[in-house]
Amino acid sequence: MPTETERPSSAPSYDLATWRARIPLLTSLIPMNNCSQAPQTDATRAAAHRYLDSWNQSGMDWDAWIEEVQLAKQEFARLINASADEIAVFSSVSEATSAVASAIDFAGDRRKVVVTEAEFPTIGHVWLAQERRGARVAWVAVRDGMIAPDAYDAVVDERTAIVSACHGFYLNGFTQDLPNLAARVHDRGALLYVDAYQTLGTVPVDVRAIGADFLAAGNLKFLMGVPGIAFLYVRRELVDRLHPLTTGWFGRANPFAFQVKQLDWSSTASRFDMGTPPVLNAYIARAGMAIINEIGVDHIRPWLEVLGQRLIDGGAERGFALHGTTDMSHKTATTAFVVDDSPSVELTMRRRGIVPSARGPVIRLSPHFYNTIADVDTALDVLASVIPNR
Ligand SMILES: Cc1ncc(COP(=O)(O)O)c(C=O)c1O
Repeated sequence: MPTETERPSSAPSYDLATWRARIPLLTSLIPMNNCSQAPQTDATRAAAHRYLDSWNQSGMDWDAWIEEVQLAKQEFARLINASADEIAVFSSVSEATSAVASAIDFAGDRRKVVVTEAEFPTIGHVWLAQERRGARVAWVAVRDGMIAPDAYDAVVDERTAIVSACHGFYLNGFTQDLPNLAARVHDRGALLYVDAYQTLGTVPVDVRAIGADFLAAGNLKFLMGVPGIAFLYVRRELVDRLHPLTTGWFGRANPFAFQVKQLDWSSTASRFDMGTPPVLNAYIARAGMAIINEIGVDHIRPWLEVLGQRLIDGGAERGFALHGTTDMSHKTATTAFVVDDSPSVELTMRRRGIVPSARGPVIRLSPHFYNTIADVDTALDVLASVIPNR
């Protein structure tokens, strides 16, 4: 029998009205762009003010500010069942990926980097740039907006150093089975780097159960935060043998020893930290992630399955062309429909009170924990009115 949190229902297991009251934007717009930027909450706004007040009232308080960055790492760790000493902080996923890439040795026999065609372009760019250091990029194909699990088998081999795979495809919300992928990758002796930017906050993620070696995500999408901060998980057992070429004083054993001639490495994942961290963003990020952790991703996911299925079914009823899979067990709540001129569809929908997210050939409708079935239906109706000639 399904448990309370597993059973799809017409209401989530948490108090939707109370959470909605904490998002001021909902009084004027229906945000369906959570795959791009989540709305502001009372908590994230208050967190920004806490930093501004601290700066204003004390001039500077570096001990408290750095502690806040540490607490943000802790909150991220909680989301993925890791510990804070396995987390490094960056300003973007691009930067985190570059740091990981810079720590991989491509001089030996293992030079191959396997990258999926479903990666956000920046991930491909980072790995391609490593070809100057000896890396050779090989691609795993996307077919019909999805990746077949066995598509990796022909590409990943004993010359593969690392496989770089997204958990969720930014274009249409398709998700990959990470434990299965990790087993395939490790079987060939390679490492697994996961970009979980499109899934964290919507799908339960447990890095230990998955067996991922690295996992990165930014903060402004389903984690309810802001641009300018991203987190990287590094599996504890790997830390000792990794020495990123992109580094800085926060990567040292004691950043405050101020030893200019000594490149000593932190014994934890903080060896991936760079320079002065994004403090203001860390305040907001921690508050956003705390909301997700408080509700619990295993409570959010069943509601997103209800909303996601409604998008799939409602899109089919209205004759929309769905991009990717219709199987909710392999999707976040993001559903993408193929449209002509997606930026102008986005603009027109915004004028009619819905915020969707245009990407290339598709318009993405991406609800989150606070959205209602009525939000989804309205978004679909507005989209139908914008693209009447299907
Ligand atoms: C899956 C995914 N990875 C990476 C990025 C970009 O990351 P950043 O801009 O933090 O480098 C995005 C989107 O913005 C994304 O959707």
